[in-house]
Amino acid sequence: MKSGKIPLVDLRAQYDSIKSEIDAAIQEIINSSQFILGEPVEKFEQELAALCATPFAIGTSSGTSALFLALKAYGIGPGDEVITVPNSFIATVSSIINTGATPVFVDVDKDTFLMDPNLIEKAITSKTKAILPVHLYGQICEMDRILEIARKHNLHVVEDAAQAIDAEYKGRKIPVGDTAIFSFFPAKNLGAYGDAGALVTKDKKVAEIVKKLRNHGRISKYESELVGYGARIDALHAAILRVKMKHIGGWSALRNHNAKLYTELLKQVSLVKTPTVKEHNKHVFHLYVIELDSRDQLKQELNAQGIGAEVHYPLPLHLQPALKYLGYKEGDFPIAEKSSKRILSLPMYPELPSENIHHIVNTVKEILK
Ligand SMILES: Cc1ncc(COP(=O)(O)O)c(C=O)c1O
Repeated sequence: MKSGKIPLVDLRAQYDSIKSEIDAAIQEIINSSQFILGEPVEKFEQELAALCATPFAIGTSSGTSALFLALKAYGIGPGDEVITVPNSFIATVSSIINTGATPVFVDVDKDTFLMDPNLIEKAITSKTKAILPVHLYGQICEMDRILEIARKHNLHVVEDAAQAIDAEYKGRKIPVGDTAIFSFFPAKNLGAYGDAGALVTKDKKVAEIVKKLRNHGRISKYESELVGYGARIDALHAAILRVKMKHIGGWSALRNHNAKLYTELLKQVSLVKTPTVKEHNKHVFHLYVIELDSRDQLKQELNAQGIGAEVHYPLPLHLQPALKYLGYKEGDFPIAEKSSKRILSLPMYPELPSENIHHIVNTVKEILK
């Protein structure tokens, strides 16, 4: 049986498996001195667009900047409202606020923890401009319903797919609607060695605006058509991501294999609820999240035994100190609030050995006995 530390994510294990390819790609960039945009970024964008079966991909400095620029490209700003969920990373909502718009939260489904489409229409006002669903943990939201509501009310949809690259919904890739963003934060399913992100879109106009906005609004070296931002992806990261992108399908399959093993073994643990995967979804298990009453105790004891269990996320966005001014209070989003006290992410990465999953589940059983 495995003993010793098992981290939540092991980035070193992945690097070791592709070291020679990665080292060669980094060396090539340094040799060429092409550090900003140019061919490495263009090739990365072409390959990402092909992976997503979508016409346009634009590399950005992070997932956060991609999300902010997507909203800007749709003209969202002061006076506008954007509907999103309270159980996400803070960047989902800060991207909305930084455009000058106001986030409006709707609660999530109790099983999948994804945006509940039944609650969207009640949250729509004359100020609503967009819906921002979050494909949390690597599973895509109920996009047919969300897109139908958006069409009916003439709203834009920007998918926060930071955690969901390579996921599918009814056989469709991301963006399921017109526009989505990815994060390439190192621990993501496709991770750079630093901050990076991208926008993928079917909308040529959005692609053109974001391409300008990420690079100071420039149309030539010293001419700017828009007031933009310094939000380009680095060529080094583009080169690293090009190598890694070739492996993403295999890595998603390994994540699914690991998730299936966890779920199979955890069936015998009645106190634990395993993740709900909708039949029509290809889940990519960025995180494997269980639910239970005694979450804090289990987390503490797993951590004490060297198992890297964490909570994504312990404090819902509407209760964040920074967002107090929005006027939400405890009790406003009962499902998001309840789940934040009950969820626990167990170690999950493609290279996680099966024997470690057996060890983790046995440890869970021991603790909950
Ligand atoms: C759901 C979600 N949205 C947005 C982001 C922001 O991405 P980044 O860290 O690349 O800026 C992240 C990840 O960190 C995320 O998990």
